[in-house]
Amino acid sequence: MTVRFGLVGCGVMGSDHARILRSDIAGAELVAVQDKDWGRAKRVAGDRCRIHADPEQLIVDPGVDAIVIASPDATHAPLTLAAIAAGKPVLCEKPMASNLDEARSIVDAEIAAGRQLVQIGFMRRFDPGYRAMRAAVKAGTLGNPLFLHCIHRNAVGPDYVTSDLVLANSSVHEIDISRYVLGEDHARVRVIRARSSRKAPNRQPLMMVLETMSGVVVSVEAFLDAQYGYDVQGELVCEEGTLSLDPHPPVRSRVGGSDGHAVETDWVGRFADAYRCQLRDFVAALDGGRFLGSSAWDGYVASLTAEAALRALRTGETIAVESGDRPAFYDALG
Ligand SMILES: NC(=O)c1ccc[n+]([C@@H]2O[C@H](COP(=O)([O-])OP(=O)(O)OC[C@H]3O[C@@H](n4cnc5c(N)ncnc54)[C@H](O)[C@@H]3O)[C@@H](O)[C@H]2O)c1
Repeated sequence: MTVRFGLVGCGVMGSDHARILRSDIAGAELVAVQDKDWGRAKRVAGDRCRIHADPEQLIVDPGVDAIVIASPDATHAPLTLAAIAAGKPVLCEKPMASNLDEARSIVDAEIAAGRQLVQIGFMRRFDPGYRAMRAAVKAGTLGNPLFLHCIHRNAVGPDYVTSDLVLANSSVHEIDISRYVLGEDHARVRVIRARSSRKAPNRQPLMMVLETMSGVVVSVEAFLDAQYGYDVQGELVCEEGTLSLDPHPPVRSRVGGSDGHAVETDWVGRFADAYRCQLRDFVAALDGGRFLGSSAWDGYVASLTAEAALRALRTGETIAVESGDRPAFYDALG
């Protein structure tokens, strides 16, 4: 079976998804693209696929079986709803929605459609390091988990990104991966601001502390202006030992009197395997398999938790995370 993909958004992420679909995924074909900027759409399309004038037209194109959404955050919910209405599976970049009403409407629309159509691009669920942590928690090989320490540093963040946006757009990855690794929801969250770096006076590095329902403490440093590179670290601390993510790229050099690892410049390199496996498994799910990535419910809970974190940032208080019961529809997905 060949799944014919339509791609909305041909920027950094969209171009990378296009490259992966064309070069790495058996059973996938990129047949149509759309971008608000026609030049970008043309660069990705080349002479190999159709270019649509607007995303809704691409979604209802009868020659398109499945959709990838990699346009800006504000477009995610309306386009995901359009894909559900067209009955087409959709891999939507994170975050799933810009506000909670939108996020809930996607969950409701998918339940009404009666089958899973939505996967959210929380690709870290396909990273081998996080997978190993989840497996250890599930099997109990290191005893009960006590802490999950997460560090998320970018080299230089864009000027428009405020401390608020860091929670909704960046730390939302840690919110999702913590639920995935630990297999449980968060109960409460608080957020502390560090002073601003002189390199980026318009925002502050943040420390988010989440507590899970069973009492595991999750620390998340979110620092967009670390200068030296893109660096995601994670350490799971359990009763009988710890598991840590290896440095990336996984090669060590001794040269010029130093001994160490290079640091990735951005997420495209650091999570290259995860992005590839995410699309590979998405295609396998459409060919009679099971969706292994974040569901619309996971996307909703991530948005809800990020919103609680935002209130914690603004008030300085500890805020309860109240996601409510997972609908039976999602329980049945496993
Ligand atoms: N999963 C991840 O690790 C990850 C990493 C980076 C970005 N993202 C997400 O991916 C999305 C895209 O990020 P990016 O870094 O590629 O941004 P980008 O700015 O490089 O690309 C966005 C593209 O969307 C186009 N666009 C703007 N409005 C549009 C519209 N209404 N319809 C169609 N196209 C439109 C722009 O012209 C641009 O080409 C964002 O939502 C971001 O949060 C996810």
